[in-house]
Amino acid sequence: MIYGSWRQRLARSLHTSRSKPHARFVQLASVDVNGKVQNRTLVYRGFIDDSDALIMVTDRRSDKYEAIKNNQQVELCWYFDKSREQYRINGLINIIDVQNAQLSQTNQVTREQVWKTLSASAQAQFYWYLNEGKDNNLPEQITEPELIPDTFCVMLLLPTEIDYLLLADPQQRFINKKTNGKWQELPIKP
Ligand SMILES: Cc1cc2nc3c(=O)[nH]c(=O)nc-3n(C[C@H](O)[C@H](O)[C@H](O)COP(=O)(O)O)c2cc1C
Repeated sequence: MIYGSWRQRLARSLHTSRSKPHARFVQLASVDVNGKVQNRTLVYRGFIDDSDALIMVTDRRSDKYEAIKNNQQVELCWYFDKSREQYRINGLINIIDVQNAQLSQTNQVTREQVWKTLSASAQAQFYWYLNEGKDNNLPEQITEPELIPDTFCVMLLLPTEIDYLLLADPQQRFINKKTNGKWQELPIKP
């Protein structure tokens, strides 16, 4: 797999900010069934090995689930304050929910692997309201695939265009676009 140059740049940005947990917070904008734009903060949870797909997770009960199922087109905005870099990552999200995980072995394995990377408290959010009236203590981290709650969804963002901006003097800006399966980079002069 030949990665686009944006991918190496992003790896560097993450490395520079590796001691800052907030550097993994991203803003994801999508459009709902009525055409309304919605934006929210999510946690970036890595890449699928040997691919450009960024991993995030969400709950099937959230508004974004319906919105993205209806319209996969999204833009993710990511600012690294330490290195003063912004990435605007445009692309399509594939949601892996309990249904399509049952239809594809790859999806099922991805859903299980990403679930295991969540901390016990992150996992606990997916049980919210499911066990009303039961013990409210946080569970231990759960690793058995059959215990993954149906509410748990993985979102894979496949980028098609990345707009990179470095706030330096002078500013640097590059657009990376995928054309015929190959990444091209174009410097942008203001
Ligand atoms: C720092 C931070 C991290 C968050 N991480 C996630 C996340 O990884 N997944 C998620 O679904 N919501 C996350 N949220 C909550 C979302 O921002 C949002 O409020 C929630 O998902 C409902 O969004 P929706 O109504 O657009 O679906 C996070 C919020 C904050 C402030």
